[in-house]
Amino acid sequence: MTSLFDPLKIGDIQLANRIVMAPLTRNRSPGAVPNTLNAAYYEQRASAGLLITEATAISHQGQGYADVPGLYKPEALEGWKEVTDAVHKAGGKIVVQMWHVGRISHDTLQPGGGKPVAPSAIRAKSKTYLVNADGSGSFAETSEPRALEKAELPGIVEDYRRAARAAIDAGFDGVEIHAANGYLLDQFLRSGSNVRTDEYGGSIENRARLLFEVVDAITGEIGAGRTAIRISPVTPANDAFDPNPQPLFTHVVEGLAKHDLAYIHIIEGATGGARDHQQGDKPFDYAALRAAYHAAGGKAAWMVNNGYDRALAIDAVESGKADLVAFGKLFIANPDLVERLKNGTVLNAPDKDTFYGGGAKGYTDYPILENVA
Ligand SMILES: Cc1cc2nc3c(=O)[nH]c(=O)nc-3n(C[C@H](O)[C@H](O)[C@H](O)COP(=O)(O)O)c2cc1C
Repeated sequence: MTSLFDPLKIGDIQLANRIVMAPLTRNRSPGAVPNTLNAAYYEQRASAGLLITEATAISHQGQGYADVPGLYKPEALEGWKEVTDAVHKAGGKIVVQMWHVGRISHDTLQPGGGKPVAPSAIRAKSKTYLVNADGSGSFAETSEPRALEKAELPGIVEDYRRAARAAIDAGFDGVEIHAANGYLLDQFLRSGSNVRTDEYGGSIENRARLLFEVVDAITGEIGAGRTAIRISPVTPANDAFDPNPQPLFTHVVEGLAKHDLAYIHIIEGATGGARDHQQGDKPFDYAALRAAYHAAGGKAAWMVNNGYDRALAIDAVESGKADLVAFGKLFIANPDLVERLKNGTVLNAPDKDTFYGGGAKGYTDYPILENVA
């Protein structure tokens, strides 16, 4: 029987086990440039089969929060090189989560202080995180967005392609396209945020068009075996809504099946909330989603996330429901999570107050087992 602790090859990437660190924004990269503290944080967690970085902006326009890293400045790519070197030296594997926030941004974070961009000019009932003049952080309402012109979309696809190349050059083992949690690609997918009347709005096929163009561009640049994607079919995060997610996401995974991607990453339920959260009038059927992917010829590893504990994760892999399990909050608090899950040892509890922003406290100072009294 396959175990959570068994190795697995996903696309071009060989993993030591099936335990994955989920992408976790920590707002500790001022100027969008990863630093030595960030490298230490990822290195501490390198025993995971795979590390997925925090969401990382593909362009200045894709930035939506203060002190999150980017993939578009030479200094940031230098910073990421330090991170990927540290993780590889420690025997780990690492992919970068590629992010364009779309409307989840603030004028002050945008090039020239302009409006954030979106499929349609509909403001999200959501917040972003800003840093005040005195260095303290605070949450602020997202700004009014403007609808992207159709002629601007090829430029965004090009930003993804360029960022994927830059990521591989900076030493990443691959990339995860962030198509979850109410950011740009998810905004295009869902009818709650996309009321366009051109080929990028209306039908499911049209709403998924930008996502497939991005996947084609990235796989064409770096190869499908280094490319992965994250989706969250029912999460309401960042005001994401669609009344009919099952056919929408079935179309998405069926379209992804033609590429031999490294993995498909599914957030089950509301991100960080109820696993049985529902949008529309029926519970979402994740097994049917996976079956549709396989029926369409899809072969990528199936990664699941949201509220997994040791027992649930062991069962998910042993029963064949998933190939990989991603852990978020447990990895914040337990750098040696793999060892703790192996032994069934006690886990450190995450400290919410230090999730976003700050320094080493609540970031690189969680104890590992030999240091626990
Ligand atoms: C502090 C924090 C930051 C997060 N940042 C991201 C992110 O950058 N990208 C993303 O896709 N999800 C992000 N998430 C969601 C997590 O990846 C994950 O889906 C969520 O925590 C549920 O998994 P868990 O129950 O194992 O924590 C974040 C969650 C937390 C708590």
